[in-house]
Amino acid sequence: MKIVDEIREEHRLINRVAGSLFRWAARGSEHPDAAGDLDDLVRFLRVYVHGFHHHREEVLFKALVEHGEVPGDHGPLVILTQEHEGVPPVLDELASAGACAGSESAAKRLAAEIWLHLDKEETVLLPEAERRLIDGGIRELEGPPASEEVEAARVLGLALVRRLPPMDDPNLIRGDGCIPCPAFGDTCHGIETEWWSDWEMEHHRGLDEG
Ligand SMILES: [Fe+2]
Ligand SMILES: [Fe+2]
Repeated sequence: MKIVDEIREEHRLINRVAGSLFRWAARGSEHPDAAGDLDDLVRFLRVYVHGFHHHREEVLFKALVEHGEVPGDHGPLVILTQEHEGVPPVLDELASAGACAGSESAAKRLAAEIWLHLDKEETVLLPEAERRLIDGGIRELEGPPASEEVEAARVLGLALVRRLPPMDDPNLIRGDGCIPCPAFGDTCHGIETEWWSDWEMEHHRGLDEG
């Protein structure tokens, strides 16, 4: 399904720019380019990630609720939507604080949050989304197209990756599935409990055993 493939493609760029954001923080706010690079990172995250990518995913979320037998009022979609909503306040904080020591730690936290969010979507949401929509009679889904401003932000993201070579957070443990998610066992009981029917549970068990 085109929108799912496109979301995966967008994730590849966002994953790398999160590494550039971490590089920015590790390089330090005293660097002569720190203020300009921070402005560009915030611009990419505001326009491309929040203003474009999140809206496209929310089209997918809505279709999953309407056609994919997925609950919209509890479980992974609530957690993912809350995480989307958590991004603009951090960007406002970074933009108003500018290049300073406080922004270094905020940038590192944001990079880690982005990575954990991407991992959840790649390993929990997207593998289920396509099959559920097809089973629900949806073969294609149109997300909002990229405006010129979004396309400019995408090109800026590619430039940021060249300017600030992505680095990993050595203290962050990334992983597949629900287990690394801080909401698991707290406000979300994981995809098996939240989404799977008895039939799906049996089917997945059979795959694991077989
Ligand atoms: Fe997302
Ligand atoms: Fe995403």
